[in-house]
Amino acid sequence: MMDGVAAMTPQELTEQVLAAHAGTPQPRLRALLAALVSHLHSFAVETRLTPLEWQAGVEFLTAVGQQCGPERQEFILLSDVLGFSSLVDILNAAPAATESTVLGPFYLAGAPKREMGEQIGRPQDGPPVLVRGRVRDGSGEPVSGAILDVWQAGGNGLYDTQDPDQPRYNLRGMFTTGPDGSYEFRTVRPVSYPIPTDGRVGDLLRAARRDHWRAAHIHVIVSSPGFVPVTTHIFDADNPYLGSDAVFGVRESLVRKFRPPGADDPADVDYVVNMDFTLASGDES
Ligand code: BEZ
Ligand code: FE
Repeated sequence: MMDGVAAMTPQELTEQVLAAHAGTPQPRLRALLAALVSHLHSFAVETRLTPLEWQAGVEFLTAVGQQCGPERQEFILLSDVLGFSSLVDILNAAPAATESTVLGPFYLAGAPKREMGEQIGRPQDGPPVLVRGRVRDGSGEPVSGAILDVWQAGGNGLYDTQDPDQPRYNLRGMFTTGPDGSYEFRTVRPVSYPIPTDGRVGDLLRAARRDHWRAAHIHVIVSSPGFVPVTTHIFDADNPYLGSDAVFGVRESLVRKFRPPGADDPADVDYVVNMDFTLASGDES
């Protein structure tokens, strides 16, 4: 205390900053800013954040930003490994629809349209798998003409965009459901792969002694006009990283057995996977 004037308290400062944003005209932005200021200030108070730690945090976030560009989005990766992307997904899930999970950085728009049952990979990408099922609406009626936009990494754990030895759009394709809502595609058995760790997110994972592996999965976006699109995965039930997926993307309802084909299944694949999808009515939110 100087000259009998009490020093400003953390609470007084937080109230001043909140008041400075209270006149934001747009209601949703006003609410977001108020919550951001109050949680950010609580974080510093709770941890008794020091100036050196503040500076290290600013340097870390600056370096993350410097690693963002058209080919790489280190901020999304940071959000992914902190479980923030998955949290936003879960908060916005359409009730009664197939669970969604992270989009990830390897989606490419404009995958080629494929025929029912077509193989999207090459023999060297891994053991062949038939994936099949139905797309239904919330009351169990088939959704005909729904689009399944599918992509995955090859047997070396790399997506076509990361691997100069794969042709562009390898292991990608758009499939359309038939009149009974059914679909089929052939692909290869997915493998676990490491998320990029050559940037600042990698430093964070190493500091926390965390795994940098994604549980083996196939990506699918299921969409149809009049329904909320679902961005999701099919996980391999036998994969050892289901419990430690680096981006917290695993949902129990999305885990499927890759089983050997039975007598009634096609003989040209090593595994068969059944996966049905449910779409909720509505628009993209
Ligand atoms: C992916 O599954 O493609 C992915 C998701 C989040 C971070 C890195 C990769
Ligand atoms: Fe992936």
